[in-house]
Order: sequence, then C-alpha cells, then structure tokens
Amino acid sequence: MNKKNTESGSGNSYTLIDNKTNKKYELPTQDGTDGPSVIDIRKIYAETGCFTFDPGFTSTASCDSKITYIDGEAGILRYRGYPIQELAEKSDYLEVCYLLLHGELPNATEKDEFVHNITYHTMLDERILFFFRGFPRAAHPMAVICGTVGALSAFYHDNLDIYDPRQRMIASHRLIAKLPTIAAMAYKYSLGQPFIYPRNELSYCANFLRMMFAVPCEDYKSNPVLARALDKIFILHADHEQNASTSTVRLAGSTGANPFACVSAGIASLWGPAHGGANEAVLNMLHEIGSKDRVPEFVKRAKDKNDPFRLMGFGHRVYKNYDPRAAVLRSSAHEVLEDLGVKNEPLLELAIELERIALEDDYFVEKKLFPNVDFYSGIILKALGIPTSMFTVMFALGRTVGWIAQWNEMIADPEQKIGRPRQLYSGATERAFVPIEKR
Ligand code: SDX
Repeated sequence: MNKKNTESGSGNSYTLIDNKTNKKYELPTQDGTDGPSVIDIRKIYAETGCFTFDPGFTSTASCDSKITYIDGEAGILRYRGYPIQELAEKSDYLEVCYLLLHGELPNATEKDEFVHNITYHTMLDERILFFFRGFPRAAHPMAVICGTVGALSAFYHDNLDIYDPRQRMIASHRLIAKLPTIAAMAYKYSLGQPFIYPRNELSYCANFLRMMFAVPCEDYKSNPVLARALDKIFILHADHEQNASTSTVRLAGSTGANPFACVSAGIASLWGPAHGGANEAVLNMLHEIGSKDRVPEFVKRAKDKNDPFRLMGFGHRVYKNYDPRAAVLRSSAHEVLEDLGVKNEPLLELAIELERIALEDDYFVEKKLFPNVDFYSGIILKALGIPTSMFTVMFALGRTVGWIAQWNEMIADPEQKIGRPRQLYSGATERAFVPIEKR
C-alpha cells in the first residue's frame, strides 16, 4: 500500500513532452494512503498553455478526501476505513453519520449526545408546512423535497457563518434530522392525509416510518424489523466518494453558498435515472418485464445499440465488479421478506433471474456490468411499504450525511477554492455582426 508523503509529491513524476518543440514538462505525482496515485496537473495550463480534457471526469480526481474509499475493480467500499459490510451488519445509521462527519466511531457518550442533537432537530418551522400546499398533490416527491430543502436556506441563512465549525455542525445536524420529516410530509401531502409530527422517544428510522404510515385516528405500532432494514439501507447509501450528486454539492458549496441550498442541488442531481433515480427505474423495469420468460427479450434490448433501453440497476462508473452494497442488499432482501412472511416475492425472483442471465451474457461480462446499489434496494423498500415514487427520496435521505460530510471537508480545507472547470472551445471564431436586413 502506498504511504502518502507528507510533502506535496510522492518523489515520483511523469514527463510530458511537446513533440513539436521537444520541450519537457515534469508532472509530480501524489500518493494517497490507498488507491491510485494522482498526477498533479495544477500547473499544466500555466506551463503548456493547454487544458487537460476529461468530459465526465473518468480519469480526474477533483479533491483530496479522507471520507470514503472505493476500489472499483475489487468491489471494495469503506467509510473512514471501515468496510461497508461490517458497518451494515454491526453499526447503525446515526453512528455511521457520526463516523462520516467526525472521522471516528463515537464512544457511548458521544453517540448519546449526537443522537440527542439529531432527535431535537427533527421538527420543522411551522411555516414550512405551508410550502407543501403549493405543490400539486401528484408532484414527484423528489421535486417536493428539492424545493423544500432549498427553502430551508431561507430559515437558516442570515446568521450562518459556514467558516465556523460549530455552526457548520449545527447545519449538518439540521439537515440529517429534518430530511425524514420533510420526506414523510411530502408523502402525507400526496395522500391528502394530515402530517404526522416526529416523536422524540423513537429511533431515527422508527420515527420516519411512523411519520410515513401513522394516522391520527389510531395508534401506530412500530415494527423493529422494518426499522432495522431501513437503517441498513440508509447505511449503504450514506456516502460514495465523488459521485455526481456529491460533486454537485461540492461545486455549489465551493462558492460559499448556503449548505441547505447546496444539498438541494445534490437532491436535484441524484434524481436523474442514471444516478439515484435508478432504484425507481429498476422497479418500473421489473414491472415492465413482468415474467421470467420475457427476461431474454429485455437483455437483448439492453445490448442493442439502437435501443435506448438499459438494464437499470446494472453497471457503474467505478465498480467493475459486484457493487458490495448490492451484495448486502441482495441478502437483506431475502431476510426482510422472510421476516415479513412474504413467500416467493415475484419481483425478487424476477430480479434474481435477470441477474443470473445477464451475468452469464458475454456483453455484460466483457463490459463488466454488474448489479449496483439500485438493483435490489427497491425490492426491500417495496416490502417496507414505501411507494415506488419515494424510492429515490430514500436514497436522498441516506445520502444527505455524505453530502454534508463532504461539504464540511471541503469548507474546512485551507486549500479550498471555487470550482471552475475550463473547456475545449469548438464554436464559431470571431465574425462581424450582420444586420437583420442582410441575413
Ligand atoms: C448510482 O457514481 C456513483 O458512485 C453513483 C452511485 C452512488 O452511490 O452515488 O453508486 C449510485 O448512481 C448507481 C448507478 C445507477 N444507475 C443505473 O443503474 C442506470 C443504468 N446504468 C448506466 O446507465 C451506467 O452503467 C452508468 C450511468 C451507471 C455508468 O455509466 P458510464 O460509467 O458512463 O458507462 P457507460 O455509459 O460509458 O457504459 C459503458 C458501456 C457502454 O457500452 P459501449 O458504448 O462501451 O459499447 O456499457 C454499456 C454502455 O452502453 N452499459 C450498459 C449499461 N450500463 C452501461 N448497457 C446496458 N445496460 C446498462 N445498464
């Protein structure tokens, strides 16, 4: 394993040669504590007059981070060094939130204090409840939470100094605490049912499920099996290095923007079907396939370049192996359905058959397309009674801590500067204006 040098470099470098002038440029490298080293190109434009070109950032490290490590080839995911499988099995979501925010697992006192802080920030300013009434009842809940989370910046802005670590942590607690309340209220509003307020004696996930499914006219009994299953889903979705929505939050935050507005931007980015929207798309795809005998037809379509259809929940920019989160969710799906006494869930049977056929197909094997986190999560969420339209909202609830942990890391970085990529310009060169009568 490479040891990160304390100096800016690693003692190694790459030489870039301009083949027209034979001029050489030394590009130093930096080693991390794990994973690929980086070639430091920060001076390349000043020295060569050229930009580097990497649409989609497939080969670009945008920052130096200590939060999450992924090895796509080996299918490894660790939060602050702890393997995701261990955290999913032995930890709980709020403990993982503390770990992502602070870098260490909390001791008992630290954990109790953190849980207390989150619990006592779960209520919304009563004026926010009026926001929901402005949305159509059938509005997609991602639109509702994107707008409502952004609106929180109207309530926590004037006295928010993002360069004060204590104020950053309060904003972080507020976001982790209030997202479930906002999400549940969005759902209740879509049903025309009254909002259910959080209860301080309940755990994070039991509180959310009660806000989602309780009604004022009868007592609601929490199901610990469902709460534990949801807690595990949130752990698995908590952070994932510099994915599209996290990069969105970092770029928005690099301007010094309000963190509530930055997380709203992250929610918008996550909504896309190529990203967090895939879990909803997987369920819709499984319903469209309908039965095992139609799986070959859809696998064929997924391989057809002329057909825009893709196997949702398959493939990943980084994982070229089985997404470790998908493996945990696959086994968790069986456990949850068994605990709930659901026998032979047809969607799970269909998903397993789809995975079997795809993983035997040369196209998927050669392109290293494996199930990702979104492939099985929807089946568990459906078993928990979560409607399909709320699946990506669940992803956003789990990922909020990752977004805000990465935002904190960026704001606290003394080398932090506004993100401002450049471009390869291939448009019109200079030309004189043509009056309309001559066009
Ligand atoms: C998430 O970045 C993260 O970490 C994201 C995430 C997180 O936790 O934040 O892990 C969460 O977003 C998971 C991904 C969820 N999205 C989906 O399941 C949607 C379906 N998958 C894809 O659209 C695709 O695989 C991506 C977007 C996930 C990755 O796309 P890339 O890395 O840009 O790869 P690509 O589109 O260039 O595909 C490489 C090849 C292409 O074929 P060629 O042009 O090389 O011939 O594989 C093919 C693609 O056509 N391909 C697929 C496919 N995914 C890729 N073919 C069929 N079905 C698929 N699902």
